[in-house]
Formats: sequence, C-alpha cells, structure tokens
Amino acid sequence: MVMSPDEAFSLLALQAGPPHPVLSLQLSLCFVLFAAIFAFWLWPGGLAWALAKARPAKAATSVPGPSGVPVLGLVFAFTGSLTHRVLDEISRALEAKKLMAFSVGFTRFVISSEPETAKEMLNSSAFADRPVKESAYELLFHRAMGFAPYGEYWRNLRRISATHLFSPRRVAAFGRFRAEIGLQMVAEIKCLMEERGEVGVRKLLHFCSLNNVMMTVFGRSYDFGARNGGGHGRSDELELERLVSEGYELLGVFNWGDHFPLLRRLDLQGLRGRCRKLRDKVNAFVGRIIEDHRMRRKAARGQSNDEEDDGSGDFVDVLLDLEKENRLSDADMIAVLWEMIFRGTDTVAILLEWILARMVLHPDVQAKAQAEIDAALGSAARAVADSDLPGLPYLRAIVKETLRMHPPGPLLSWARLAVHDTHVGGHFIPAGTTAMVNMWAITHDEAVWPDPGEFKPERFLEEGGGVGIMGSDLRLAPFGSGRRVCPGKAMGLATVELWLAQLLQNFKWVSYPDRGVDLSERLKLSMEMKHSLVCKAIPRV
Ligand code: HEM
Repeated sequence: MVMSPDEAFSLLALQAGPPHPVLSLQLSLCFVLFAAIFAFWLWPGGLAWALAKARPAKAATSVPGPSGVPVLGLVFAFTGSLTHRVLDEISRALEAKKLMAFSVGFTRFVISSEPETAKEMLNSSAFADRPVKESAYELLFHRAMGFAPYGEYWRNLRRISATHLFSPRRVAAFGRFRAEIGLQMVAEIKCLMEERGEVGVRKLLHFCSLNNVMMTVFGRSYDFGARNGGGHGRSDELELERLVSEGYELLGVFNWGDHFPLLRRLDLQGLRGRCRKLRDKVNAFVGRIIEDHRMRRKAARGQSNDEEDDGSGDFVDVLLDLEKENRLSDADMIAVLWEMIFRGTDTVAILLEWILARMVLHPDVQAKAQAEIDAALGSAARAVADSDLPGLPYLRAIVKETLRMHPPGPLLSWARLAVHDTHVGGHFIPAGTTAMVNMWAITHDEAVWPDPGEFKPERFLEEGGGVGIMGSDLRLAPFGSGRRVCPGKAMGLATVELWLAQLLQNFKWVSYPDRGVDLSERLKLSMEMKHSLVCKAIPRV
C-alpha cells in the first residue's frame, strides 16, 4: 500500500496521541539547558563570568573579553608556554588592552595590558591578596610572604624582611659575598673554556644565584668543587638544587584541579602527591639548618649576647631573634626561608642569561659597556665592585632594556585576587576575581615604547634614565607595583648589575660557531630562554 506524505504524518500524529506531560517537560528542560549553555558560551569573558554576581545597575558596561571554548574558556592559553603572547594577541584583537575578562574553567580573570589601568589595579587595596594554587598551598607557601593573605601576618613578614633582609644596609653588607661569588664564577668560566671551549651559562648562573641567596639567608656558601662532585661530602648543595628545581616545576605546571573543582579531588596529574613528598624533604632540609642555628646560638650564649642587628648575622638568626615576639612557628619559619631561596634564585639567573644572550647578539652594545667599565676603573687593574656601579650608566641601561624585552615575570609572576567587590576603569569586578597585568604586552606595545622590538639600551640614557623600574611607572614595572611589589628588587638588581660588570670586564662573549642564539621563550613560573645559552667567553685580561 502506497501512502502519501500527508497520510503518513496524520497516522504518526494519531499514534503519538496528545503530547505526554513528562515528555514535554523534558523537552522544555533540554531547551532551557541548551539555551543556557549557548548563552554562557557567548557571554563576554566566558563561563566563570556568566556565573558571577550580577553587575550593579549603575556599573557602566561589562568587561569585554572572549568567551573561549565552551566550559573550558581560555584553558589552552595556559597549557602552552607562551601565555603572555596569546593573551596579548587576544586583547589586541578585541581592542581590550585596558581590561579584558576571560575564564579558565570556573576561574574568573581580568587582565590589563595598558599602564594606567594596570597601575590602578596593582595599587588598589582591593587587589592585595593572591590566589593560592593547590601546589603553593601544599608546599606551604601560604605561610610565606608571597602567598600569605593580606593582613597582620603578611604585614609582619614584610616588615621583618624589609628591615633585616632587604634594607639598603643589608643589601650593601652582602656586597662582599656577591663579589666573591662573581669572581668564583669568572674562574669557573675560565676552567670551562679551557676544558671544553664553550660555556653553558644556565647551570652556572643558577648555581651562583642559589649560592648567593643561601649566603644571605642561611649564612652558608658552597664551593664549585662541591658542584663538580669534588668537595667533602657536600651533597647538601646538590640536594638543595634538586629541591628548588622540583619546586619550580610543580609551581609552574598548569593544574587543571585549580580551575575545575571536580578534577581537584581526583588529582589526575599526581601533583598533590609530588608536592607532599617535596614538602617533607624541604621541611627536613630547612628544619636541619634552623636546628643548627639554634645549637650554635646555644653554644655561643654567655660569650656574646648581642641582640643588635649589626648586619653580620643571617636571616635565620633574625627570625630566631624575633621568634617569640612575632609568634612564628617552625613551620612558618621554614616557609619564609624556603620562599626566599626559591624567589631569589630563579629570577636573577634567568635575567642574567637573557642579558648574556643579548650581549652575544649585539657585539656593539657589549663593546660599549666594556669600554665604560675600563674607563670607570682607569688604569687600576682591579676587580669591579659594588661601588663602581653608579659610574656605569650604560651597563645599568642594558639591564633595564633586557628587563623590558624579556621580563622574567611577564604576567607579573604571581597574580592578585580581588578581596572585595570593586571597580576598575568604571567596570564592576566581583570579589574573588583573579587580576593579572601583562607586563610583556605593555613593554612590547608600540604605543608605549617606540620600536619595541629593537634592543636599544640607549633609550634609557636618552630620557636621562627617566623611566623608573621600581614600580612607580607602569610602562616598565618588572618587579610589580603597590603593596605587594617585589621586596627583593634592590637585592636582585644589585646582584645582576655586579655580576654583569664582572662578566663583561673579564670576557668577550661570542656565539659558538654554527649555533647562534635562539631567543625563543618558555613561560614556566618565570619566562626563561627555551634553549639555554651556550657560547664562548674569551678572556679579556
Ligand atoms: C630580577 C629579579 C627579580 C624579579 C624580576 C622579581 C619579580 C617579582 C614580581 C613581578 C613580583 C610580584 C609583584 C606584584 O605582585 O606586584 C615579585 C614578588 C616577590 N618577590 Fe621578586 N623578583 C626578583 C627578585 C627577588 C629576590 C632576589 C627576592 C628575595 C630574595 C624576591 C622575593 C619576592 C617575594 C617574597 C615576593 C612576594 C611579595 C608579596 O607578595 O608581598 N624577588 N617579584
């Protein structure tokens, strides 16, 4: 029997009967769900912004931003290693340099790639907290200064370290050690050149930087024999190097669980277990150093009871002196000391590697800096020292220009968190939003810096060195700005400038034949060279 389409349709309708109430409810629910997902997907800034507290009626407009991949948002910008560049491209494309909203899973972000708005955010008391990743929490960093919530405990740590670790007097007092370590580095480079004819600078810089922080914070130093397997059972040094690099890796990894609460429980990446193992090792290592200090102090008690900070003790002594008054537990002290080692090592080594890469690439700049050093020291055949640095403006301009082109913290390392509802540039930002500044985007913006892609240290001389880099001018603020600006900035700069002067005074840096210099970047916890620099250091003296 042949049936016309009309007949077939009427038959089906008869068989289906009147619409079933449960079925139509399901259909409506599906429709609502689909519409909601679609709306969330298209929402400026994506899912986390769609779920956020509604903007008050008087708040001007919502923050512009990409909705990203449904539910995931901009996850893939963060799983790659060029997050700063990806975010810059998106904010340029959306004309959202001032402020852009986006989501990573259920985490709500805003980012600024423009100096004025960046300053407004970093200097606002509303953004005085930091979001604490699970790995940071597991590694006890929430008890250290960098991740401690804004409040009495954090203020106390800032005050103690500003007085006893980062004060100009303390930074100057450690100049002698910096210079000694720099000279050891020079000697080691000479040996490497004789043995291999080339220098892989990363490992060396990392070792020296670690040693420098160890001396400042723990009052301990290690020699190069220890690094090369010589020395007398100094496996401590190697262990510490391992602990620090494991910590870097763990803090730098993108943890899906930080942005997707369901995945957090599962810990599919196994980060929690690794963090706990590392935490136990760090507790044992740093705990041992604290105990050694206690024993030494006990033994010395009675002979000298000088409580005054005469600039000769280390930071462990300072914390032990203040232990009771500031109610610091052993766990707090371990966290604080560990963070200093951690933060002070990587940034300095990474910045110097970028500078040396630039020196190899720009022989004219290198020669000019060397001529400046030779002129400043006159005919005296002595090693360059801290006191020579004020007379080396070109060398300091090289450091600034490298910080501009290769900021170690292109997204200002550790983001900020809105502690309460606030407004930025007239936009409503709900409490709990993570705020970031794309310092890399600002320092590469042609509207802010002429010829941003060119390495020209002279730009800092032409303006009379006018752009301050310590956080007051957001055109170049590699150390952040506001309440949570980097407290170690003066110490970090003093180290980088002195070691650069020593390295340039002693060697001419040239590329290894056929190898050149690869400036590719890789953003982990800090932005480092993707392929570490291997070059030749030809002795000048
Ligand atoms: C070239 C060297 C360095 C660079 C580029 C650098 C960069 C930064 C940046 C961008 C921040 C975040 C600032 C903000 O949120 O506004 C920061 C914070 C911090 N830095 Fe540095 N840093 C350097 C050296 C050091 C050194 C040598 C130490 C200590 C030994 C240190 C300890 C810290 C600490 C403890 C914080 C957290 C401060 C807080 O949250 O209150 N940094 N650093």
